[in-house]
Amino acid sequence: MTVAATIPVIAIDGPSGSGKGTIARRVSEALGYHLLDSGALYRLTAIAAESQNIALNDVNGLAGVALGLDVEFDSNEDGSERILLSGKDVTRQVRLESTGAGASTVAAIPAVRESLLARQRAFAEAPGLVADGRDMGTNVFTSAALKIFLTASAEERARRRHKQLKDKGMDVSLAALSRDIEDRDRRDSERSVAPLRPAPGARILDSSGLSIVAVTNTVLEWVAEL
Ligand code: DC
Repeated sequence: MTVAATIPVIAIDGPSGSGKGTIARRVSEALGYHLLDSGALYRLTAIAAESQNIALNDVNGLAGVALGLDVEFDSNEDGSERILLSGKDVTRQVRLESTGAGASTVAAIPAVRESLLARQRAFAEAPGLVADGRDMGTNVFTSAALKIFLTASAEERARRRHKQLKDKGMDVSLAALSRDIEDRDRRDSERSVAPLRPAPGARILDSSGLSIVAVTNTVLEWVAEL
């Protein structure tokens, strides 16, 4: 039996800006489960590759970088996230739009995805895991107890991302963000390896117009039905 089959895993997949990160965090806190932000691993691979001067077309080099990532997911005293890469605080850099673009490129490389597989599965520990990403239900945790495909309209996702970045003091135009989101959606769903799509049996949740609390409660109701 695989680890994922014995530990309850809630897989939450969906496009960028659908609110996965926020919902996954809230659900993991409500259940007392571990949290896997798999997108952060692709983002960290892009950052580590840049700092080691590995080109984004050097497939073997990137797979090696992904395999050797020295990451620590931590939190500050106020509960906000803190991510250390080889001991260096890269929390802010991880969330930059430019890092997201690099992550999307490295995530399209099968060898990189393979390199990150065991590391992701190792997050499945008692009492359970909430895993957030693009292929949690389709690839990484195929026997997850609950698979959710969380989505929202492209306009709403661009607006949310805009607000999020503005709150962090980053100035990005809404039009540019919408273009980025559409480009990234296309790359993530058209790539041949682990394309973004609902897993068989996934429950679809469209969060357009819904509050964070409403979406979190819907997920928790579905968990209670298990
Ligand atoms: O969710 P995010 O924006 O942090 O993800 C960054 C990139 O990584 C995104 O372009 C898609 C990719 N990704 C992936 O391919 N598979 C995952 N499980 C998570 C993220």
